[in-house]
Formats: sequence, structure tokens, C-alpha cells
Amino acid sequence: MNNGQRTQFATRLGVIATTVGSAVGLGNIWRFPYEAGVHGGGAFLLIDLFFIFIIGVPVVCAEFIIGRRTGSNIRGAFRSLSPGKAWGWVSYIGITASILILSFYSVVAGWTLEYTIRSISGFGGATTPEGLHDQFDAYASSDIGPVVWTMIFLAVNYVILVRGVQKGIEKMSNILMPMLFVILIIFVANSLMMPGAAEGLKFLFMPDFSQVTPSVVLSAMGQAFFSLSLGLGCLITYSSYFTKGTPLVRTALITAGLDTFVAILAGVIIFPAVFTFGQEPAAGPKLVFEVLPSIFMHIGGGVFWSTLFFFLLFLASITSTISMAEISIAYFAEEFGMSRRASTALTIGIAMILGTLCALSFGSLNWLKVFGMTIFNFFDYFSSNILLPVGGMIISLFVGWVLDRGIIRGELINSHGRSTVSVSIIVFCLRWLAPLCIGLVFIFGLGIF
Ligand code: PFF
Repeated sequence: MNNGQRTQFATRLGVIATTVGSAVGLGNIWRFPYEAGVHGGGAFLLIDLFFIFIIGVPVVCAEFIIGRRTGSNIRGAFRSLSPGKAWGWVSYIGITASILILSFYSVVAGWTLEYTIRSISGFGGATTPEGLHDQFDAYASSDIGPVVWTMIFLAVNYVILVRGVQKGIEKMSNILMPMLFVILIIFVANSLMMPGAAEGLKFLFMPDFSQVTPSVVLSAMGQAFFSLSLGLGCLITYSSYFTKGTPLVRTALITAGLDTFVAILAGVIIFPAVFTFGQEPAAGPKLVFEVLPSIFMHIGGGVFWSTLFFFLLFLASITSTISMAEISIAYFAEEFGMSRRASTALTIGIAMILGTLCALSFGSLNWLKVFGMTIFNFFDYFSSNILLPVGGMIISLFVGWVLDRGIIRGELINSHGRSTVSVSIIVFCLRWLAPLCIGLVFIFGLGIF
């Protein structure tokens, strides 16, 4: 149990900044707009919101309960709550998912670094959407550049992570997260003044349910889990550093609220531009990298704004990658008695190897397909749409059915007081709603029957 010896986040702001820092990242600013673009806009947003608030928030609470109660890495947490039982296997799902995500995510974070530099040179003078499109394709499919940036990005992660929880993770997040919000708001104001604003907002906010198929619902569920960093033990690991005074339900709601807010801001920034410049909302993973430079190259001070934006995307990435890496770092360190330095090196080392494969899957490895997908797409699809919801389902069944009700109450109701009503609602969601919804989405989304 929480032994007081282990490191903890120093302040309440630190708890929010690190948890929100984990949730807010490329998932909101890069992945959400392109997924919404591919899956028809408004309807996708609405389904995503359902999964975030109705299914996601209770499962976030479940992870928090496990993490804070045990003060342990994901494997140790299940061992101490349910010794000798098979529940602990969910840890391996989490560790696998975290490494797969870290690998492909670092490639996109690498693109943000390249685009920060390219912004400074004004994209070599390219201003037309076609020119910028060709430029991105040529870059992503080249071999050296993307791999080098992926390595640099992972190396920066190593430097932060090796410093530990308070000095590394918490300090970084306290500075970066507030900066991110301010910059996003400036961009929103700019986008709303574009000629395509009305059409862009309509696409984002007017649901068109004719586009909704079971596989769209599966993707929206995957997006919600990915965006909340949920289902892989990231929040178990982070909450193992929470103090006893941290209000769990409130922290879960703030995290889900700010996370959704940033995804919506990203949509409000991107879709007006897509329609203003006559581009395709369903462009996929390259959407942000092709559309945004078009905006920037047409506004006053474009070089400055573009550099700032891609740098911001890099900052948002790093507060997320450090949280996914921390899952296996804590696991290797505590389960195998490794030093922090060794467990960090091992985690980052594996991600460097897999990340290289992901980076090359846009170029010389694009012939290599797993279930018909490139390595990059497979890592993303398999972790977000399958592993995270399966992990989330097991975690909610465990807390809903197995964990002693007294422990749940003890964690959810602390000196800041939450009524027992919210405890019963959360337990109901964990026992029934979350597992049933996730199960149904799998059955229909994957076409199991
Ligand atoms: N939530 C992050 C994002 O939206 O960018 C991604 C993420 C972070 C996924 C941490 C999983 C994780 F453990």
C-alpha cells in the first residue's frame, strides 16, 4: 500500500498539469481532427463525447483508485489488490500498448520538429495547397529525415524522464501546459475570421448520422480512450504519485473537460481553414501538416505563427510521451529492481527500434503490411481501437466487481467530500455500462457476428 516512501507529485497544480499534459497531445490536435475529418465530422464528435464522459470518466476514476491505493507500478498494483489472480495480465496489455503508441507517436512528434524548422524558412517558398501537399509527401516518405527526428525526439524524452517524477515530468508540465492553452486561443481567433469559418464549423458541429457505421463507432471509442490516455495503465501509474488529498473524481472531470476542450479548439482551428482553402477534410494523418501551413502562408506574420504552432505541437507531444513511457519505466524499475536510468534506457531503446520501423513505413517499408495496414497504421489501429478498450474493460470489471467497495469509497470520498451518490453512479458504470458498451462496439465494429 501507499508507503509514503515513494515519490509523489509536489503540488495540486502539478497533478493537474501532468495528468492533463498526458491527455492533451497529438491525440487532440493531430489525431482528433483527422479522424473526425475521415468519419464525417459532427456525428463523430458526438459519439466521441459520449465515450469520453459516460464511459471514459468512470474508467479514469477506476484507474485512479487502483493507482493511488497501491502506490505502485501497473503490475505491482494488481498483485497487491488481487494476489495470485489472473487480473494482473491486463498489465501486459498496457505495457504492450504503451510501447506501440510511443513508437508511432514519436514519428509524428518528429514531423512536428521538422515542420518547426521548415516554418522558419517559410516552407522554402511553397504557398499553394498542392505545393505544400507534395512537400509533406516527399518528406514523410523519405528515409533519413523522419528517422533522425524520431530518434532526437525520443532522446529528449530520455533526458527528461531520467530526472524522475518531480524534477522532470512535473516541472516540464507546469510550464508547458498553460503556454499551450494561450497559444491555441490565439489560433482560434484567427481561424474564426476566415471566409470558410461557417462551413468549417458546420462540418464540425452539425452531426450527419448517415455517415455513422459500426466501424465509425469503434474508431470514436478508440479516439476517446487514446485521448484520455486510458486503458493502458498510464493513469494508474500517474495516480500512484498522487497524494492522499488529491480529489479523484474532480481530477477525472477536469482532465476529461480540458481534453475535450482542446480537441474542439483544434477542430475549430483546422476545419475553417480546410474549407477556406478548398481542401479535403478526409485527408487522414497528413491533414494538420498540409492544411495548417496553407493558412500560415496566407496570413501576416505567417512564419512566426507557423513556427509557434508546430513547436507547440511538439511540446504537447512530449508531455504525453513521457506519460506513456513512465508506465514501463516504473514497471521495469520496480518489478526487476532496475535503476531509473536503466529502465528509462530500455524503454526508450525499444521505442527507437520500433519507431524506426514506423517512420520507414511511409517510405521504403511501405510495402510491408500487417492485416492490410502499414506498420504505422497497424500500431495505431491495434493499440487505440483494440488494446486500450480491452484494457479499459478489464479495469472496469475489476474495480466494479472484484475490488472491495470500502476501498472504492475510501479513495473516492476524501476530505474534500463527494457524496455516496456519485460513488454508486461510478460503480454502476464500471459494473455494467462500460463493459457492455465496449463489448457491443467490439462485436459490431469488428464484425465478430
Ligand atoms: N492522450 C494522448 C494524446 O491524446 O495525445 C496520447 C496518449 C498518452 C495515449 C499517454 C496513451 C498514453 F498512455
